Amino acid sequence: MKRYLIPVVTMLSVSALSCNSPKGEVVIPADKAVEAKVEQVLKGMTLEEKAGQLVQLSIMVLQDETNEALDPAKLDKIIGQYKVGSILNVMNDHAHSREHTAQMVKDIQAKSMETIGIPCIYGLDMIHGASYLTDGSFYPQEINLAATFNRTYARMMGHAMAYETRAAQVPWVFSPVMDLGRDPRWPRIWESFGEDPYLQAEMAREETLALQDKDPNHIGLENVAVSIKHFMGYGVPVSGKDRTPAIIAPNDLREKFFAPFLECFRAGALTIMVNSASVNGIPTHANSVLLTGWVKEELGWDGMVVTDWADIDNLYTRDHVAADKREAVKMGINAGIDMIMDPYDPECCNVIVDLAKSGEIPMSRIDDAVRRVLRLKVRLGLFENPTWEKEYPMFGSEAFASESFDAACESEVLLKNEDGILPFKGTEKILVTGPNANSLRTLNGGWSYTWQGSADDYVPQYNTILEALQQRFPGKVSYEPGVLYDQTPMLWQNEDASGIAKAVAAAYKADVIVACVGENTYCETPGNMDDLNLSANQKQLVRALAATGKPIVLILNEGRPRLIGDIEPLAKAVVDIMLPSNFGGDALATLLSGERNFSGKLPFTYSKHINALHTYDYKVSEHRETMEGSYNYDAIMDVQWPFGHGLSYTTFAYDNLKVDKPEFGPEDVLKVSVEVTNTGNVSGKEAVLVYSSDLVASLIPDVKRLRAFDKVNLVPGEKHVVTFEIPASRLAFVGADGKWRLEEGDFRISCGGLGVMVHCNQTKVWNTPNI
Ligand code: BGC
Repeated sequence: MKRYLIPVVTMLSVSALSCNSPKGEVVIPADKAVEAKVEQVLKGMTLEEKAGQLVQLSIMVLQDETNEALDPAKLDKIIGQYKVGSILNVMNDHAHSREHTAQMVKDIQAKSMETIGIPCIYGLDMIHGASYLTDGSFYPQEINLAATFNRTYARMMGHAMAYETRAAQVPWVFSPVMDLGRDPRWPRIWESFGEDPYLQAEMAREETLALQDKDPNHIGLENVAVSIKHFMGYGVPVSGKDRTPAIIAPNDLREKFFAPFLECFRAGALTIMVNSASVNGIPTHANSVLLTGWVKEELGWDGMVVTDWADIDNLYTRDHVAADKREAVKMGINAGIDMIMDPYDPECCNVIVDLAKSGEIPMSRIDDAVRRVLRLKVRLGLFENPTWEKEYPMFGSEAFASESFDAACESEVLLKNEDGILPFKGTEKILVTGPNANSLRTLNGGWSYTWQGSADDYVPQYNTILEALQQRFPGKVSYEPGVLYDQTPMLWQNEDASGIAKAVAAAYKADVIVACVGENTYCETPGNMDDLNLSANQKQLVRALAATGKPIVLILNEGRPRLIGDIEPLAKAVVDIMLPSNFGGDALATLLSGERNFSGKLPFTYSKHINALHTYDYKVSEHRETMEGSYNYDAIMDVQWPFGHGLSYTTFAYDNLKVDKPEFGPEDVLKVSVEVTNTGNVSGKEAVLVYSSDLVASLIPDVKRLRAFDKVNLVPGEKHVVTFEIPASRLAFVGADGKWRLEEGDFRISCGGLGVMVHCNQTKVWNTPNI
């Protein structure tokens, strides 16, 4: 295996080295002043200084023995001697106040300016707000923002995140995450915007623009550089386990997985972080076709590529495509890596120096990588302002909190509501139960104060579901957990089910049961598991509660859709709140009381059976209703709830779906309109989703694809004509030859159960990536 792989990787690297210049569009226009500054700094640098710019270390290498402060001797060594150009993460995996973080960054910058004369760039994983600050703001996780189908919330979160990160003197976030969450077993789908490329691309672009603003050459003091991640194909490991190999058809890689990245490159994304694993046998960190070919050459992108955590080491310790560190560093940098997140070993700097001296990494590649790092620092204004004196009065503000609450309300998805059991009348005696009922940690998920998530330790002032329901329905709420999670980090799967009998006894005294089940928090590899089913203990709790005959409202607080096919029939109502963050309990209580209406829709397919994990854009042959051409009659699309499913306390009628032209050419824009009417008794927001189906194509077409969405707010009886402009090129697909194709033939445009046929009158083929 190793023999086979190394020549492939090497061959690609060599070809990439010879042609690292734009071949098509240039996604970020060069700025003369920025480039002049970069060249001026580069000219004066020694090889050792250049190597230092290409290395990023964890803050842990600078910590003193208290794990809370910097050690001056270590600063001397890492910044002074090794001249390391970037630091990431937080001390001892603990969140710190903004003040503490800001002071630490200031100390590092002072050292960097004094000894190297080049500012250090500090990066943090701000995933759903100020993930690592004790006093900042949190928004619902990306999977929830996707469920709102409301671009406003991606913008709001991006804006607040940039502002609060800058307030802590940090100019760079490893966000947004845009790995397509197309396999529910993968433990990171909650970090992304779900399974659909278009939804993912739309939300990620909005977040990127809010984080960086519109001019990537001049990032202001309320904005930060993004690191769009993880480039790419990370979210569909064959095993379902984190950081394991993916096999992706080349056309899908281009058409679906690249789409969100392309959208963000075009919005000016300044850095990318690489997929820690591998695609089609090539570790992404050694994949020059993707890193150099697709991104730096095809898009003329002049930004910076950073590795993921220790992934250069993984080329030899895990993937065995390199024999040792030296070979791995050479392979990675030659493939297109510009900065190595090592993260503990400054010796990496010496390895780079040695490889440059021997010519194994050409000096032109070293200089190109250094330019990219310097360009980022210049664009961020770090040379003029290594640190900055500025007030940030909105930090941790009520305004951000209120946006977060609104986003949570729009993101929680009502999946089932039999006999109109919801909203509650307010007179019911409610038993609140389940391991997720009284936990802030689970409302937030991972990347919340700490890597694995530990909100209860930091922000006890916010309401759990239990506390929010107690406040909303005073005197009506009782509590028995039934099952409890182990609170030890990394032991998130352990459960104590000894309280089930007590919960059942309490259920007899209640009118309705709110059973809060799901998952404890996890992040990355510690979230790997062997069974997507909801845990046996929690299912046992639900069954025991159902035996009392009392109606159950099942609340799912989980990062991925755990299978519940066998217990779902026992519940009258089901709400998937996913990971709505600190105001998720309040949002749920507000929704259950009817004060606000549900409007979230699933951004993923909620599967029902372990051997039938689907996405909504499956192939027609998998669908039982399409008997024609289908010989596999067992391949039924039998899911728990489909992508886009979500109920409301009101009803919406769809009428008059129209496309402005029955026939169109490749350069046309289709104007689609549909009338949506609120036919119920309460106000409600409706996410309007437009799909297309290519009826005959030269590659087996997907049964349908999301092509546009919008959200409308309607009072009872109100009708609104929702309009969309869909460029015909959006209906194209990538063919077997890797080129975009819009083929002559019939398409069905559908929305809200209605459909219209349109005809494309001409085939057009585009070279990639020019769609
Ligand atoms: C994760 C990245 C993260 C990095 C730095 C890695 O383990 O995969 O998403 O940005 O660590 O903390």
